[in-house]
This record gives sequence, C-alpha cells and structure tokens, in this order.
Amino acid sequence: MDAPRIAHIVPFPLPVKKGDTVYWCACGLSKTQPYCDGSHKGTGFSPVPYTATRDKIVFFCGCKHSAKAPLCDGTHVQVKEGKLLRRLRGQAFSRCCAAPPQYPRWSPSRHSPGLYRHPAGAGAPSAPPGEGAG
Ligand code: FES
Ligand code: FES
Repeated sequence: MDAPRIAHIVPFPLPVKKGDTVYWCACGLSKTQPYCDGSHKGTGFSPVPYTATRDKIVFFCGCKHSAKAPLCDGTHVQVKEGKLLRRLRGQAFSRCCAAPPQYPRWSPSRHSPGLYRHPAGAGAPSAPPGEGAG
C-alpha cells in the first residue's frame, strides 16, 4: 500500500483528556476512525500515538495526508480539490466518449478546442456568443 486511504475528507474533532494516549490510524483502513483498530497489518503503515497535555478538543486528520499527523494541518483542502478534479475529469471523459442520445452528432468545435457545439438543427444556436452569424 503506497498511499494511505482517505478515510474522511475533513478532520475529526474529538475531546481528549489530559494524560490520555490514543493511537491515530495512519493507513485509513480502520473501522474506528480516527483511531487504529489493527487493520493496518501488512500495509507498511503504523499507528501514531498522541498524548493529550490537557483536556481539549483535538482535530485529528481524517484525510491521512497531514504533514503534522495525527493533527489536521489543512492539507485536506487540497485532497478534496484533487478528488473533485478527478471526479470532474471522469465526467468529462464519459461525456466525450459516450455521447448522450439527444446530441448524437456533436463534435469538438474547430474554432473553440475543448468546447462542444450543438448539432445544426431546430433550437441549436447558429454561432457561439461573440461569433454572431449576422
Ligand atoms: Fe490504520 Fe492501524 S488501522 S494504522
Ligand atoms: Fe487531513 Fe485536515 S483532515 S489535513
């Protein structure tokens, strides 16, 4: 296992008591997030101990990519954006390669690479905004 599994895209805010030691899951496989339940066996990951110095709420990293593990350092924002980008790319890919039935003849515009035009026909714009046909 090269990278940890993203268990949660935001941190886990949890109360801790002074002197308590908890073991944060670094692999992301634990069923008792954000704590280790032993599921990391064979992954190369190990739990990270955290001892509370006072009673407080601790924001434990849920995305498993924090540079200050086991605490959240805000890296989850980038992880979230990366996930969103991958999802959007996936959608773009499926739209490109499986044209929906209402636009059977659509194709990339020669004038605007990356954009798609409606096929000529009823209701279709004659030209994109700014390229008015007259
Ligand atoms: Fe993830 Fe133990 S279960 S580190
Ligand atoms: Fe991982 Fe914030 S939840 S850095």
